[in-house]
Amino acid sequence: MKPLGRLRLGVNIDHVATVRNARGSAYPDPVRAAKLAEEAGADGITAHLREDRRHISDADIDGLMASLTTPLNFEMAATEEMQAIALRHRPHAVCIVPERREERTTEGGLEVAREENRLAHFIAPLRDAGCRVSIFIAADQKQIEAAHRIGAQVIELHTGAYCDFHAEGHFDKRDAELARLRDMAAFAHSLGLEVHAGHGLTYDTVVPVAAMPEVMELNIGHFLIGEAIFRGLQPAIREMRRLMDEARA
Ligand code: PXP
Repeated sequence: MKPLGRLRLGVNIDHVATVRNARGSAYPDPVRAAKLAEEAGADGITAHLREDRRHISDADIDGLMASLTTPLNFEMAATEEMQAIALRHRPHAVCIVPERREERTTEGGLEVAREENRLAHFIAPLRDAGCRVSIFIAADQKQIEAAHRIGAQVIELHTGAYCDFHAEGHFDKRDAELARLRDMAAFAHSLGLEVHAGHGLTYDTVVPVAAMPEVMELNIGHFLIGEAIFRGLQPAIREMRRLMDEARA
């Protein structure tokens, strides 16, 4: 199968805010990072307003909505508070993620199948407000079917396990996870869902995911913000873009 189209890069700027918040200062400013990311070729900006506001703040979302020229992908937990914020801003996309206060990062995908009714009611007003609704899930057929049934337009496949297996040198497990991601990207596409992917991607792991023909968007943050320390934010993003384009060619 030929790729369905140009692969979009969403740059997640959460960890610019993490560095800022480590000192309670006003810098580095995630909105400034987002503008630089756009100039460097990001097709969109992703930001996760967590319940505990550990990185992105409400004011950051105000700033992003006021100044971005590319679409904002607003990551949020399925809570009433976040729904109200999303409905106020009406970002281009909302990505519903699981959230636990004690976790260091979003560790798994959303359990859609277990909460189908609640989630169907939860996302309906967001869709009605014009947001594209994406659900962050593991590469699991049951979850994909449930995401489709509740009326999501997009799923984002969690690439964290694949990246962890690579980093730990468990290459058999990595390849098995990659095969699962590939199969489930094709399955989700066959249901009419738009397929995105992300979490933990680096220069070493991005190529096989970018090569999946059904995947239309990658959301990448932590690695790029780290790499920016060494080569600058824009060169770090341009190199990711180059690898994605090469994988797609
Ligand atoms: N996609 C989703 C749904 C996420 O929750 C995150 C992390 O906030 C990412 C992508 C980006 O992951 P990373 O920062 O590891 O690149």
